[in-house]
Amino acid sequence: MDKLVIEGGVPLQGEVRIAGAKNATLPLMAAALLAEGKTIVKNAPDLFDVLTMGRVIERLGADVQRHDHTMEIDATSLDNFEAPYELVKTMRASVYVLGALLGRCGKARVSLPGGCAWGPRPIDIHLKGIQALGAEIDLDHGYIVADAPKLKGTRFFLDFPSVGATINILLAAVKAEGETVLENVAREPEVTNLVRVLNKMGAKIEGEKTSTLRITGVDGLNPVTCSVIPDRIEAGTYLAAAGLTAGDVLLLGAEPEHLTMVLAKAAEAGIKITVTTEGIRVESDGNLRSVDVETAIYPGFATDMQAQWITLMTGAHGVSLITDIIYPDRFTHVPELMRLGARISMKDNVARVHGPSQLRGAQVMSTDLRASASLVIAALAASGRTDISRIYHLDRGYERLEEKFSQLGARIKREHE
Ligand code: EPU
Repeated sequence: MDKLVIEGGVPLQGEVRIAGAKNATLPLMAAALLAEGKTIVKNAPDLFDVLTMGRVIERLGADVQRHDHTMEIDATSLDNFEAPYELVKTMRASVYVLGALLGRCGKARVSLPGGCAWGPRPIDIHLKGIQALGAEIDLDHGYIVADAPKLKGTRFFLDFPSVGATINILLAAVKAEGETVLENVAREPEVTNLVRVLNKMGAKIEGEKTSTLRITGVDGLNPVTCSVIPDRIEAGTYLAAAGLTAGDVLLLGAEPEHLTMVLAKAAEAGIKITVTTEGIRVESDGNLRSVDVETAIYPGFATDMQAQWITLMTGAHGVSLITDIIYPDRFTHVPELMRLGARISMKDNVARVHGPSQLRGAQVMSTDLRASASLVIAALAASGRTDISRIYHLDRGYERLEEKFSQLGARIKREHE
């Protein structure tokens, strides 16, 4: 297993190119299954989760080729309807093939993803929506078995605007007969990216960026060339790192519209934010003010930025309260940050961060993707050496992380444990 060794204390300086968004790429890969022929996905990040999704759709019969950041998915002949446990358990988003397989073939057998390190993360809304479209769903030995010779348009209200449920139901609905109205859908940019690509493929979806999607079913979709939006969470992670290390970093290609809340909060914390034609410039003198955040659905503060924000606030003067209402148990990074000298107390789903703390290097452990990112940020600001083990989590969602931070002047290297 690999670990990261970081000698902290260097203010980050320079430019970093923001990669395509992991969470936008995965739904596009599932969408490619809806069309016979070759779909080309540009700006696809080179990440372990993208590789896993590639394996899932290859299992179904698709051919997946990669050249740098361009992915070609040929889904002309699908000959299998099963997404097996050994793949789905490693990445929950594999469950997107449920909607896509129903749309393309009228049947699917997909492993239930199971729990996650920070909570149960149910998929009940995915299943209810797909049932509302007329699919019969059975649970069989840990698998969702779905059957729908012909999906039918419907009106469905999501109990919560879940990103994954919106994507899964949408993938099934685009080819359902007649009109489908999905209310209370997620409006995250990754959903909008998918809606636009599906429309390019020939789907008829109205209401992009709103809470209601109106879909007129079509008989078939065509393969297209499409592009992945920049990763707003990767951008936010580099922003927090620049902020805490008193750095000056240009986030090349970052999309300010997708980061409105994070940028507003960063400015409130005393970080200078300048939007340029090339991206977003982040300048910090290290003199940070405490700022409370509460996670919310888009365009609110993303739960995927919660861990990084806690870390940033360890360097801020005063007390900041960070509340996660989307995933109330997503705080496995807190005890690890405390090993680095952060002063944080927890009550239910609220972290109270007392700052500023001079962080000091220590041995810590990654527990999940964003928790790992928060430890990297802390280590970059800490005095002395930090060893972060179990970094395979980082490889799921951050492309060439140590290389990118090195280019910004950080002393960071990967070692085999
Ligand atoms: N929920 C339900 N039932 C469902 C689905 C969701 O109760 O059927 C609840 C969840 O338990 C949670 C809330 O709804 O409390 C939000 O979950 P959502 O379905 O929106 O999350 P997701 O689709 O499973 C995606 C991202 C996550 C990100 C969340 C929230 C992908 C592949 N994953 O997950 O990203 O945290 O949206 O924005 O897009 C990450 O990248 O590190 C990551 C975990």
